[in-house]
Amino acid sequence: MKITVCENYDEMSEKAAEIFIDNLKKAPSMTLGLATGSTPIGLYKNLVNAYKKSEISFKSVTTFNLDEYVPITPDNEQSYIYFMKDNLFNHVDMDESKINIPNGQAADPEKEAVEYDKKIEAAGGIDLQLLGVGPNGHIAFNEPGEYLISATHVTGLTEKTIKANSRFFASIDDVPKHALTMGIGPIFSAKKLVVLISGNGKKEVYEMLKTGKITTQCPATLLHLHADCTVLVDKDSIK
Ligand code: F6R
Repeated sequence: MKITVCENYDEMSEKAAEIFIDNLKKAPSMTLGLATGSTPIGLYKNLVNAYKKSEISFKSVTTFNLDEYVPITPDNEQSYIYFMKDNLFNHVDMDESKINIPNGQAADPEKEAVEYDKKIEAAGGIDLQLLGVGPNGHIAFNEPGEYLISATHVTGLTEKTIKANSRFFASIDDVPKHALTMGIGPIFSAKKLVVLISGNGKKEVYEMLKTGKITTQCPATLLHLHADCTVLVDKDSIK
């Protein structure tokens, strides 16, 4: 794991964008693993700008998002599909048929999870996976616990995560209590990982990552086991 502390959020976003742009130039039909949340908004802005300057194209790119709330409809502004369209997909030449995000209104979410992993496998796995981390060290919605689950699955959100995410909803009661999340397996099978750490309450996760210790009580620490993991940290969030 290579940890780089960036001067601020903008520098972190630019450095992350450089990695994505570089990889997209080399392999225009690559498969990207994408994340939502506050952290990657700056990165997505940089990617949209690079697209507008004709530096990169998304027309042959396949994407798999990490997660989606359950239940939620795609027209809900807090759904992750809405977020992705708003922050990236609607502003670039993405082929809609190549966008994959767990279906938050699937009649059978467990089945949706199994199908999602099959789709990732059929696409040949993820080439470059973006991750944010929760204040409790969660990656995607793999929450701290005694054990983690390898496959994509339906999970309950912890009180801490519901509270952290309530900032986007009208009230805490509106935050869905479940999510469909990629498991640790598909995340780890990605060839390259880029992890961004920014935002309130992330200092503790950063300190934990620095120790090199690995524990399911802080899922981000497992990323030490990946052969190609770059962590970019916004210095302002670890002060
Ligand atoms: C989002 C995701 C989550 C977030 C994490 C950090 O797709 O998988 O794990 O990356 O909750 O969220 P922010 O960036 O809002 O602090």
